[in-house]
Amino acid sequence: MADRILATKDLLIAPSLLAANFGNLAHEIASISNADLVHVDVMDGHFVPNISFGPEAVRLARQNFGGLVDAHLMISNPDTALQAFIKAQPDIITFHIEATNHANRLIQQIHDAGIYASVSLNPATPISLLEDIITDVDMVLIMSVNPGFGGQAFIPRTLDKIRRLRHLAGLNRVQPRIEVDGGISCTNAAEIIKSGADVLVAGSSIFSHADRQAAISSLLHAARQGLSQLA
Ligand code: DX5
Ligand code: ZN
Repeated sequence: MADRILATKDLLIAPSLLAANFGNLAHEIASISNADLVHVDVMDGHFVPNISFGPEAVRLARQNFGGLVDAHLMISNPDTALQAFIKAQPDIITFHIEATNHANRLIQQIHDAGIYASVSLNPATPISLLEDIITDVDMVLIMSVNPGFGGQAFIPRTLDKIRRLRHLAGLNRVQPRIEVDGGISCTNAAEIIKSGADVLVAGSSIFSHADRQAAISSLLHAARQGLSQLA
């Protein structure tokens, strides 16, 4: 693990490379150097209807980014592909609970490799599936769009889901990071943070701006408004 930033900062911004220029990824990664995490969306054309990055992009992010590398595996059978992603040395590996029968084993394998373990839920997947692993994960990624594509609209019901996840974590006396992914911009960041999330993934709302550093600062500023109103 590069450092303990995942445990120490109150709010983290994670630009998603899915919205970057794939033809010049090293340059795109350099343009977001003030972000805390770089989010790498791995898609296999099976778990989601799109194909994007593999382990090489995770490795490239590792080599070119000073903060944490967040590998979001939107793939079927993450058990089979896990070692290839471990070798690329991200700081966080997020797998989908819908894609495996052995979430507990995956979490153990990720931890054994010295990597933060994170589990993701699609919009239709209930929080209750986390009951028996909530004490073992470092982060939960709540999808606020159906995974596969950037630029989709935020699903409003996500806000209630974040609150229910925070409640479940509280009952179990743990504080996993809560990352939210899809349709996030300055207009809804405060509301999402106010509901209990603390890591915001943003693709199009950052990479559509010529000045990515300013876009990241604006999103962080908007998110901070929600922190002061946290229930
Ligand atoms: C969607 C991906 C997201 C995506 C978000 O399947 O997991 O990380 O890049 O893109 P925006 O921020 O444009 O909704
Ligand atoms: Zn993602």
